[in-house]
This record gives sequence, C-alpha cells and structure tokens, in this order.
Amino acid sequence: MQVIICDSREQVGVRAADIVEARVRKGPAVLGLATGSSPAGTYRELIRRHREEQLSFREVTAFTLDEYAGLPREHEQSYYSTIRREFVDEVDLPLDRLLTPHGDAEDLRAEALRYDAAIREAGRVDVQILGIGANGHIGFNEPTSSLSSRTRVKTLAGITRSDNARFFPGGEVPQLCLTQGLGTIRDAGQAVLVALGANKAAAVRAMVEGPVSAFCPASVLQLHQHAVVVLDPEAAAELQLADYYRRAQGLNDRLLGR
Ligand code: GLP
Repeated sequence: MQVIICDSREQVGVRAADIVEARVRKGPAVLGLATGSSPAGTYRELIRRHREEQLSFREVTAFTLDEYAGLPREHEQSYYSTIRREFVDEVDLPLDRLLTPHGDAEDLRAEALRYDAAIREAGRVDVQILGIGANGHIGFNEPTSSLSSRTRVKTLAGITRSDNARFFPGGEVPQLCLTQGLGTIRDAGQAVLVALGANKAAAVRAMVEGPVSAFCPASVLQLHQHAVVVLDPEAAAELQLADYYRRAQGLNDRLLGR
C-alpha cells in the first residue's frame, strides 16, 4: 500500500487526479467512481483539467460504487444524481456509459447480481476511486462485510445513517443500499482512496496499520497490489509510520522527477 500524505486538501485532489489522468490519457478506460465529500476535490481537479488541459473522458466507461435502496435515479440524493452533478455532467463522459446500480429495482438481489456481472463484462475497473467512512467502510460495505463479498444488498450502519442525515433534511436516510462488494472492489486494477479530516484519522489508521479484518472493511486494500491512499494531514494524524511514508514519497517523487 502506498501512502501519500499531502500538505492540504487541494493537494489531495491534485494527487488523486494525477493517478486518474495517467490512466485516462492511455486510451479507453473503465473508472470506478465514489460519491461522498472525500473525492469532491478530485472531481473538481479533473473537471478543471478537462476544461483547461484537454483531458477527455469520451472513451471512459464509469461504474459507481453504491446506491441507496428505494431511491429513484431522479431523486436529488441518489448517487446517480450526485455523481452526475459533481462530475459526469461537467465533462464529456457519454451518459450512456455511466453505469450505476438501480436502487429502485423491484428485485434488488437480482439487480445486485446484474450489476456485478456488468462490471465483469466490462473487463475490469482500471482505477477505482474510494472514500472511507468513519467506521472504516468503503462503498457501503459496513464492518463485518465479507472480504470476498460481491455486489449485494446491505443494511446501513447507524453511524453511516447519522453521518449522511445532513443530505436528507426532513426525511429519513434509507435503511438499505446496494453496494459493490469488497471482492468486487478488489478486482480493480488500481485503487485510490482519498481521506480528509480528523474524523477519518482512526479509520485510516485501522485501514493502513491495523490487521486485515472485516471489522475495518477498508483494510481489505492491504491485500491489493496497487492501492494508493491519499491523505490530508488531519486524516494522517494517527499514523504511526507517518515519517516513513513521507520519506518514501519524497524518494518516489524524486525518482519520477516531480
Ligand atoms: C458514504 C459512501 C462512501 C463514502 C463514505 C464517506 O456513505 N457510501 O462511498 O466514501 O460514505 O463519505 P464522505 O466522503 O462524505 O465522508
């Protein structure tokens, strides 16, 4: 696992965008898109590069990570609407190549199987962007999710529902969701996890330096060959080996001529 500790939130967005851009410039690519506030800066930076540096997403297919059960796509808080608003509608990614699980499907289990198969049929996700929940979840894989799980229906944890309540003023956060599984996420060629702020510091420590455990679902990334974790100083504050990660990154940057 590569750990990059940045000096600011802006730099986190730039670093993560660099990884996405490197793959997109190579030709047709499959991207995995996370919603949530963590990758917002990454999307803003990619949109800027699209507008100012001719970074095109015309040959990109995108799969989102998860969706609330029961919300139609048109709902303002569906992850389909969110990812369109925050990224897809601002670049030239063809809308018919934005693929998301349908949270309002009549048969949610069948929808989960369909979505998992669609990802496999696309080849694989080349770069998967991820955030992390305060309880260590990725996607909506809550603690105790199987490390081999595939896309399926999950029950949202209490902390996840209260963290996301701000997006549902006057309404209830759904109880259920569809999420790519930890096994599905692990199939991606590269994973880039972005974490910001002090309320993620404990989860980041458990993910990077704790045991591989279903109790911290993000720790599954320790088993991934190409996982990069990009942090601001607050999210990195509890890391025991922070000095080592900074030194390694400095040497790595020098090798790459940054
Ligand atoms: C949400 C999403 C995750 C996201 C996480 C953190 O509930 N399902 O994909 O990474 O929780 O959200 P945020 O980045 O807003 O802190």
